[in-house]
Amino acid sequence: MQVQSNVSLKNYVTMRLGGTAHALTTVKSKQELLEALAWAQDRSLPHIVLGGGSNVIFKDGFHGLVIINRLPGFKVIKQHKGKTHIQIGAGENWDNVVKKTVDLQLHGIEFLSAIPGTAGATPVQNVGAYGAQISDVFVELEAYDLTTKTFVTLTKDDCQFSYRSSIFKSIQNRRYIITSITLELTAQNPTPPFYASLQRYLDDHAITEFTPLTIRQAVVAIRAVRLPDPSRVANTGSFFKNPIVHADKAAELLAAHPDMPHWPMPDGRVKLAAGWLIDEAGLKGYASHGMKTYEQHALVLINEHAASYQDLATFQQEITDTVQRLFGVELQQEPELM
Ligand code: EPU
Repeated sequence: MQVQSNVSLKNYVTMRLGGTAHALTTVKSKQELLEALAWAQDRSLPHIVLGGGSNVIFKDGFHGLVIINRLPGFKVIKQHKGKTHIQIGAGENWDNVVKKTVDLQLHGIEFLSAIPGTAGATPVQNVGAYGAQISDVFVELEAYDLTTKTFVTLTKDDCQFSYRSSIFKSIQNRRYIITSITLELTAQNPTPPFYASLQRYLDDHAITEFTPLTIRQAVVAIRAVRLPDPSRVANTGSFFKNPIVHADKAAELLAAHPDMPHWPMPDGRVKLAAGWLIDEAGLKGYASHGMKTYEQHALVLINEHAASYQDLATFQQEITDTVQRLFGVELQQEPELM
């Protein structure tokens, strides 16, 4: 096991700021993971596990051991009546996984193409895009339980998925280290209705044959235009969750803005588009403190030359304050703050 000291986190988180890690190591097997945990424990240091670093923000470095999870694996473990269960190592690059499943002509995660990060991170925030979310195809995951010090299996119910959330975002946050996930995919083609922007792309390009491959290609093309590639532009994807408000509040906003995008939820509340609110507030392309809202999608904050987390926090506050003042809606950060 190799441990580096005083490592800048810039190269491990896609927002490319957040200070220095006291120590950092990369693990490629469960054995190495256990060794890394023991290394930190022997020195009474805290640890933290990162995947692709595309949904985390560090405030001020990490005074312990950062463990980069690169656990590999892509294995078909069950095939039955058109359903295929695939077990995927938590450290696999997510988009490579999607590509492999599409190559196998399997349906289920093609809508989640071109999302940065690792497979093991997808259940944490219940990753979603274009009308699909990981919980739709999730079977179970394997994790190391830091409380019982054993590897355990957590089912879909155990994970308590909701919009952009799961137990891994709450109190259980630090208890489990995800080592693999198992998904159930089908030997089928995707069927409409599709998410509005996806359908628009399919119509515009006269695509009428819907297969995992044609949908993947469409999603990759849409995302390439709308969302910045984190390997070139520092960002963490959607910086805010889409706010969910009471029906009365949505009706009040719709009276003033009849074209406001909105999605009624099963519980009667209404989900609004944070990107639209920021855009409508005149803040698309707005820059300050070395940060900027992306010209193509106001929900994405990009780091042009911010010096520290403080710059990001100040910029973020300007945006949330403006949206609060103009619409009376509170925006909540999506990436996890460490
Ligand atoms: N909109 C604007 N201006 C903008 C951005 C968006 O008016 O600058 C409008 C759009 O025209 C559309 C609505 O807001 O009517 C929603 O926009 P979009 O379809 O782009 O989706 P989103 O709600 O902003 C969500 C996810 C994305 C995901 C897309 C596509 C959240 C927080 N974000 O964005 O996820 O890719 O849907 O399904 O739910 C991510 O989590 O990092 C992420 C990129």
